[in-house]
Amino acid sequence: MTTTWNGWAAAAAVLDELYRPLADALLGTIPPGDARRILDVGCGTGATTIAAARRGHCVGVDISEPMVTAARERAGSTVEFVLADAQTHPFPAGAFDTVISRFGVMFFDNPRAAFGNLRRACVEGAALRFVVWRSAAENPFLRAAVPAARAVLPDLGERPTTGPGPYGLADPVSARQHLDSAGWADVVVRPLDVECRMPEADLEVYLTRIGPLAPALADADAETYTRVWDAVRPAYDRWVRDGEVHLPTACWLIEAEARPA
Ligand SMILES: C[S@@+](CC[C@H](N)C(=O)[O-])C[C@H]1O[C@@H](n2cnc3c(N)ncnc32)[C@H](O)[C@@H]1O
Repeated sequence: MTTTWNGWAAAAAVLDELYRPLADALLGTIPPGDARRILDVGCGTGATTIAAARRGHCVGVDISEPMVTAARERAGSTVEFVLADAQTHPFPAGAFDTVISRFGVMFFDNPRAAFGNLRRACVEGAALRFVVWRSAAENPFLRAAVPAARAVLPDLGERPTTGPGPYGLADPVSARQHLDSAGWADVVVRPLDVECRMPEADLEVYLTRIGPLAPALADADAETYTRVWDAVRPAYDRWVRDGEVHLPTACWLIEAEARPA
């Protein structure tokens, strides 16, 4: 997974712009009040952490050293970042009244234990708000690259569509069960369907630096890289119009409140 996250750090600017509407939707669910104590889980390079810091003191936690380094560099001293596994890190009990995440909570090996750990870090009534991918079938642009690239790299594997990974909380029934059993109440799971856009020129970074092609392309020679890109690019024609890529994202926006301990 580290290679993928390293690539993600390199592609941060493209991704932050692309997924800005999802960040806006997420931040719009933070309860009113401007002195909140916010934890951003799987914060990556810190776009949502920095944005959330306008509402109070925000701490970002991430397991990837390159991500946290990039986040610290861009945020300066205004925001705190912790390099740690959010599943097990001993956060101070009751330190937060809000937990947020954009695409950072689907990778837990043991979601129940992880969400229990986050619950212990919160006060009673704390707000949990996060955005996760719905199923692979509902997000075809996430799955179009690998089949196309197999024309050049026939052994290329696809990311699993169940278990820890991008689709780890795609099933709303099990997502709700994980939260219920980990001390979170009033769980609401809402579809969030947003068109995310980027300049066509950014599509290459998006497809080659993150996601399932990134590990295979990281060490590829120039000829292989070009052949893969030439094979993959046409698979995205259906989402390109007038110099822009229009990606119809299908996510869940999940809200819950910390139950009394
Ligand atoms: C898909 S990226 C999302 C990054 C960021 N939230 C964003 O929206 O740009 C997932 C992030 O979750 C982090 N992550 C995965 N498992 C984690 C864990 N157990 N504890 C903390 N961070 C984790 C990864 O390192 C990565 O930065």
